Amino acid sequence: MTITKATMNDLYSSPYLVDYYDLVAPNSDSIDDASFYWRVYQELRSPLLKPPREPFIIMDLGTGTGRVIQGLSNSAAMIGDNFFNTKVLGVDNAQHMLDKAAQNIDSLFKEHVSWMLGSALDLESVMAQSGYDKVDLLIFSIGSISHLSEKGQPEKFLEQVSKVLALGTGRAYISIYDGSLLQKSEQIAFHQPKGVTEIKSHIFPNIMYREFNHRGDIQDRVKDVKFELQVVEQTELGDQVLETNNISMKMRQWEEDELVPMSSGAGLNFVEKARGKHETFYVFSASA
Ligand SMILES: C[S@@+](CC[C@H](N)C(=O)[O-])C[C@H]1O[C@@H](n2cnc3c(N)ncnc32)[C@H](O)[C@@H]1O
Repeated sequence: MTITKATMNDLYSSPYLVDYYDLVAPNSDSIDDASFYWRVYQELRSPLLKPPREPFIIMDLGTGTGRVIQGLSNSAAMIGDNFFNTKVLGVDNAQHMLDKAAQNIDSLFKEHVSWMLGSALDLESVMAQSGYDKVDLLIFSIGSISHLSEKGQPEKFLEQVSKVLALGTGRAYISIYDGSLLQKSEQIAFHQPKGVTEIKSHIFPNIMYREFNHRGDIQDRVKDVKFELQVVEQTELGDQVLETNNISMKMRQWEEDELVPMSSGAGLNFVEKARGKHETFYVFSASA
């Protein structure tokens, strides 16, 4: 029926799009990175290694709807850890994602988290706003670094990481998703349905999302992931299309281990890498 809005968008820029993102994005059933980050947090906080800085600051960059922070909170709840003297900064450059994250979080954990609008390309400003000096554990999960697709942005981001990490003890965990490796360029992203898919909203009554025409072109190692996403209201009189969004997300593609030499020019030391189910975690510290 009527199309009230036809816009060019990423997947993070309206409450409907954020809801759809949450329905199709990896969750704790499909990816177990939060339990990995939980173990990292416990190790870094272990007084057997070094007395941890207090408060211990976690920055979950590109936090989205707070999936990783929610995962950390679930792990903490399981062993009765109350995140004593730990503060978490959930940072994202999309306000609608932060709004949903704030709704998703457990009340138990709420007081430890600040949701902050900010950019991966200007972490010094984020820290200045936060009132804390340095970050002890920085997480940039599920290949979100691929969003930094313009020339020079990954380098700028790594420089910013080196400025905000606690010298010596701070660690940055940056994930490169397998689907964003140039060697695996037939994969578009974590989400790549064929044909037309229809999914009902769990939170907006009578709303269904219709996605179609999924495609991706690579140019200069940037993949433009595109599809159409309609927001459809299902009424007794029939379906009414409320919005048609032309989704376009530019995702940088990576060579395997390319991040390592790039980081040394940005003031970071490469510490190690670890494998997850669908990704490689690259671990860095700040060089003096
Ligand atoms: C693939 S989602 C990941 C969400 C969440 N971390 C997770 O693992 O489920 C990527 C997120 O990064 C955010 N993002 C993209 N570019 C960013 C930037 N330059 N600065 C901060 N956040 C950014 C997006 O808004 C989005 O919420």
